[in-house]
Amino acid sequence: PTIYAITPTFARPVQKAELTRLAQTFLHIFNFHWIVVEDSVKKTDLVTNFLAQSRLAYTHLNVSTPPNYKLGKNDPNWKKPRGVEQRNAALRWIRESLTQDDNGIVFFADDDNTYSIKLFREMEKIKTVGVWPVGLVGGLMVEKPICDNVTRKVVGFNSVWKPDRPFPLDMAGFAVNLRLILEHKNAWFSFTVQSGYQESEILRQMIPGIEHLEPLADFCTKVYVWHTRTEPPKLNDEQLLIKKGKPSNAGIEV
Ligand code: UGA
Ligand code: MN
Repeated sequence: PTIYAITPTFARPVQKAELTRLAQTFLHIFNFHWIVVEDSVKKTDLVTNFLAQSRLAYTHLNVSTPPNYKLGKNDPNWKKPRGVEQRNAALRWIRESLTQDDNGIVFFADDDNTYSIKLFREMEKIKTVGVWPVGLVGGLMVEKPICDNVTRKVVGFNSVWKPDRPFPLDMAGFAVNLRLILEHKNAWFSFTVQSGYQESEILRQMIPGIEHLEPLADFCTKVYVWHTRTEPPKLNDEQLLIKKGKPSNAGIEV
């Protein structure tokens, strides 16, 4: 199958570094198609040029988050959901561009996480929805589905953060067979669900319950993806240079 990885992204000082880390992981994956969706009113030169020289198969989209759902400068990041409009734009592109004859897997690959090449070998096995452990998320070293030793089915989750969610897992903890995305044409992410419920929201529209999940990564005993978050760089001295009209990066893309 082709792996379709959907990545919402937005302009900030670390953006090119994040995209570089991702692209250089994805270059190792055969049959890979990157759907990059900028949170912006128009496509930026940085992302346009980055993708053009990446040697990856890709689709470049953009849609800006409506202002009333945009995080304020000093808002904690859990206040508003992120990537909603962007992931929906990618789902719309998939439904308009692909058919049931295409053999594919759809994965939501945020731009700040860290992905092992091994994760993509696991995804190839997915018939409906595959799940696996995610490192460094939800206040734990690892958040993971719990598998029954005998039936080899998912019977629960070890999540401590909002464990009552229908599917208490992170966006990085699952991928979906393209067939389901096409069959459930009205499954979307939503601005109106409680914070932390995006994953549950999309999954509940495609499968009735956790018994439909396929445990991967050695029956959920291996960590192949980490919910890393990049510290914003301190740019106080840069601010002084900007005031003097002499930014350090004049004419240099960082
Ligand atoms: C957690 C989950 O890992 C996310 O998948 C989920 O979208 C988010 O919570 C949520 O509840 O909305 P977290 O690390 O806090 O993630 O989220 P970010 O990594 O900051 O954002 C998720 C994605 O949206 C990233 O790819 C980021 O580049 C993008 N984003 C973020 C935008 O497109 N616009 C923004 O203004 C902010
Ligand atoms: Mn993140």
